[in-house]
Amino acid sequence: MSLVSGRLKSIRPSQTKATAARAAALKAEGKDIVSLSLGEPDFDTPAHIAEAGIRAIREGRTRYTTVAGTAALREAIRGKFLRDNNLDYSVDQITVGCGAKQVVFDALFASLEPGEEVIVPTPCWVSYPDMVRLAGGEPILVECLETDGFKLTPERLQRAIAPRTKWLMLNSPNNPTGAVYGADDLGALAEILHRHPQVHVLSDDIYEKLVYGEAGFATMAGAAPDLFDRTLTINGVSKASAMTGWRVGYGAGPIELIKAMNVIQGQTTSHTSSISQHAAIEAIAGDQSHVAAFRVEFENRRDLVIDKINRAPGLSCRAPDGAFYAFVNCESVIGRRTANGGVIESDSDFVLYLLDEVGVAVVPGSGFLASPYFRISYASAIADLADGCDRIIAACTRLAEDRAA
Ligand SMILES: Cc1ncc(COP(=O)(O)O)c(C=O)c1O
Repeated sequence: MSLVSGRLKSIRPSQTKATAARAAALKAEGKDIVSLSLGEPDFDTPAHIAEAGIRAIREGRTRYTTVAGTAALREAIRGKFLRDNNLDYSVDQITVGCGAKQVVFDALFASLEPGEEVIVPTPCWVSYPDMVRLAGGEPILVECLETDGFKLTPERLQRAIAPRTKWLMLNSPNNPTGAVYGADDLGALAEILHRHPQVHVLSDDIYEKLVYGEAGFATMAGAAPDLFDRTLTINGVSKASAMTGWRVGYGAGPIELIKAMNVIQGQTTSHTSSISQHAAIEAIAGDQSHVAAFRVEFENRRDLVIDKINRAPGLSCRAPDGAFYAFVNCESVIGRRTANGGVIESDSDFVLYLLDEVGVAVVPGSGFLASPYFRISYASAIADLADGCDRIIAACTRLAEDRAA
């Protein structure tokens, strides 16, 4: 009898973490590695938010809270949805979890019957399909093409919907592509969803505050108000306020679902840290100037990375409208030979080549169920980004022009 449950057979360890682990091992050996693989801001949590956490400890706010999160935090979140998204949720329609990740998991676990389907547009965040499987559901992967801006089209959505479809997962701005769905894009998807009342929308808005240039942020519950009652809107403080380690995410949606999610959380983590909840109130309702400052910095970094990467022979990347990732097309390097006689047969091979040849860690597209691509995270200091991109250009230049037979 195996000690490990059969449930885990179909679950893969995260490739984002696998590449980071390999890069860390090389670093430990003393190699000079530029790591552009992780999905978290390199900024410190802004001082006024950290202070709110410290104050919470000093004032002894260190006891259990209500499972759904303190009333004060949920009130702050209610205000945020009104202020930023014009969405009117009651406090009871809001739950707070240990990061947006737990909120997604609780929602799937609370709602899926065995074999029910969840439409996951790809490229996607590595965790979605595995979370669906862990919750007993079946992920239905729907490819979104680069030529469609990596966005789900209404036609593809229509084709993927079946009687057992329970959820459509939407993530905008997107990890890993940076694609941003405008209100028009969401309206066109909503047209299809109107015909299929069994389908609900899980809108993962965790990168909401990182939208650049002309693009504007939109979310399904606002873009299609008649889907408000069928939508779970998820967000958090990790990316917008550089608080990945504090573990605070939240969801708002149908009260029946929120109650069920609270049951799961009540029997697992209970709630996120009381201290983090106090800091999150400040992050959500306090001074917001850090949000704009982060966005400006990320936009500068994006421009640098896109400009450099498009100079690398064999690589191409459109400027992403949001998040902090560049999803680079590496089709033209597949089949090329390396100086030591190896052949690059896949994006994973190319990523390993970059690590070994020039010491740059990125994540292969296969980790996001889309090949041949790789993801650069530009949540790194600008000097590291410039150095990393220059190394990538050098590695591409070194590849033999002719292809292996
Ligand atoms: C699309 C997406 N959703 C959710 C999360 C998780 O956010 P949190 O740190 O709040 O759990 C991430 C983190 O990388 C993400 O990329």
